[in-house]
Amino acid sequence: MEAKTEILVQKLEADHLPSIATLERNCFPESYWSEDQILSHFSSQHGIGIFYKSENFADKILCYILYLENAWEIEILRIGTDTNFRRKNYASLCIRNLIQENSSKTILLEVDANNSKAIQLYRKHGFQFVDKRKAYYENGNDAHLFMRQGLLQ
Ligand SMILES: CC(C)(COP(=O)(O)OP(=O)(O)OC[C@H]1O[C@@H](n2cnc3c(N)ncnc32)[C@H](O)[C@@H]1OP(=O)(O)O)[C@@H](O)C(=O)NCCC(=O)NCCS
Repeated sequence: MEAKTEILVQKLEADHLPSIATLERNCFPESYWSEDQILSHFSSQHGIGIFYKSENFADKILCYILYLENAWEIEILRIGTDTNFRRKNYASLCIRNLIQENSSKTILLEVDANNSKAIQLYRKHGFQFVDKRKAYYENGNDAHLFMRQGLLQ
C-alpha cells in the first residue's frame, strides 16, 4: 500500500531551525542567515512553511517565508524554495496563504533589482513597485521595494 502524503502550510517554530538553516544555505548561498540570526528572528517574529508530510518520513520543508509583523503591516524578510522543488508553485502557495491570513495588512518587501524570478513571483501576486534603494546590497545592486496594499489601508 502507498504511504499517505500531504502538502500543508504551517507556522514555523524554533524547532524548525535546523531545516530553515539548511534551506537558507540552499536558497541564499552567498548571503544566508546564520542559525543565531534565525533563532533571534523566532524569538519575536514569525514564519510559515510548506511542509511535505509522509507516513514514512520526517516532515520536509519545501518552501519558507520569514516575516516581521505589526498591527498594520507585514514585511517579508526571507522567502525561498528548495532548489529541487522550484517552479512547482510552492512559493505561490506560501505567499497566497500569507495574504489570505493577513488580508487587512499591507505587505512589503525588498528585492535585488536583478532577481527577475522573484520579481515575477511578487508581481504575479499583486505586489507593485514603489521605490528604489541605490546600491543597497553588498554586491552594489539596487534594491526594489514592492508593496501589496491591505484591504483596510
Ligand atoms: C524566487 C523563488 C522563491 C520562487 O520559488 P518557486 O517555488 O520556484 O516559485 P513558484 O513555482 O511559486 O513560481 C511562481 C511564479 O514566480 C515566477 N518564477 C519562479 N521561478 C521562475 C523562473 N525560474 N523563471 C521565471 N519566473 C519564475 C513565475 O512568475 C512563476 O509563475 P509561473 O510558473 O506561472 O510562470 C525561488 O526561485 C527561490 O527560492 N530563489 C532563491 C531565493 C530568492 O531569490 N528569494 C527571493 C529573495 S527577495
